[in-house]
Amino acid sequence: MNRRFEGKIAIVTGGASGIGAACIERLNGEGAKVVCCDLQTPQRVVPDVEFLSCNVADEVAVAALVAKVVEEHGRIDVLVNNAGTAGREQVRIHELSFATWDLVQSVNARGTFAMMRAVIPHMLAAGGGNIVNVASIGSFRATPMAASYLASKGAMMMLTRAGAVEYAKDNIRINAVCPSTTETAILEHTSPEALERLVARHPQGRLGRPEEVAALVAFLASGEAPHITGGAYLIDGGRSAA
Ligand SMILES: NC(=O)c1ccc[n+]([C@@H]2O[C@H](COP(=O)([O-])OP(=O)(O)OC[C@H]3O[C@@H](n4cnc5c(N)ncnc54)[C@H](O)[C@@H]3O)[C@@H](O)[C@H]2O)c1
Repeated sequence: MNRRFEGKIAIVTGGASGIGAACIERLNGEGAKVVCCDLQTPQRVVPDVEFLSCNVADEVAVAALVAKVVEEHGRIDVLVNNAGTAGREQVRIHELSFATWDLVQSVNARGTFAMMRAVIPHMLAAGGGNIVNVASIGSFRATPMAASYLASKGAMMMLTRAGAVEYAKDNIRINAVCPSTTETAILEHTSPEALERLVARHPQGRLGRPEEVAALVAFLASGEAPHITGGAYLIDGGRSAA
């Protein structure tokens, strides 16, 4: 494996499981000192990865987290905004509760904003940095019964673009990755029939894997992508090409 993040300091939100855990493994495997921020404790302990409990929707907790990382490590080179929730309701818009709407926006959209708002001043002070937001194929395409999630992922994509143009001259690159269905805990309660239907939508005949998303995140956050900013990159096994 490359060592593209040797000596770098990274924060990965929602890093206790799934795609976030894979991002931590990848960045750490390539030399970064990684801080995992999540509501739950990580399923797997990776030596040299620090866990800090934090709700990304809570701006006071986010400010404290970022201050602690900067105090301990002096700077933040990479931020991966991955914490997310889909909410539990699978209903149409007229049946959707405000509680689900607010929860999903507060974690996915507000949480991403809160993290960017807290981290960017330190990247400006350091002369640059990299942010990758884990959005979704749902930033581009709608499916029924997921309006709050889709709206939040659309917001994350535009926050990515807004940030990219605002900070392009400050050497801060901001990109989004947009995975299709990926094999994580998100699928735990999916019936075998529904899973089969999901797989059938992907020309490759399989779902994505967390480490595949992590590889794209690492590429975008690395020095190998100096001219890439404001992008939203699908990783979907050909689903949106079909
Ligand atoms: N798995 C997929 O099919 C898929 C597809 C597209 C996009 N995504 C996105 O990828 C990201 C990771 O999802 P995943 O599939 O790995 O799911 P996951 O449930 O395994 O991981 C999400 C993590 O976010 C944490 N989290 C939730 N709310 C939080 C909060 N308020 N503060 C801090 N941490 C919080 C959870 O505790 C969990 O560890 C999410 O943003 C999700 O929307 C997933």
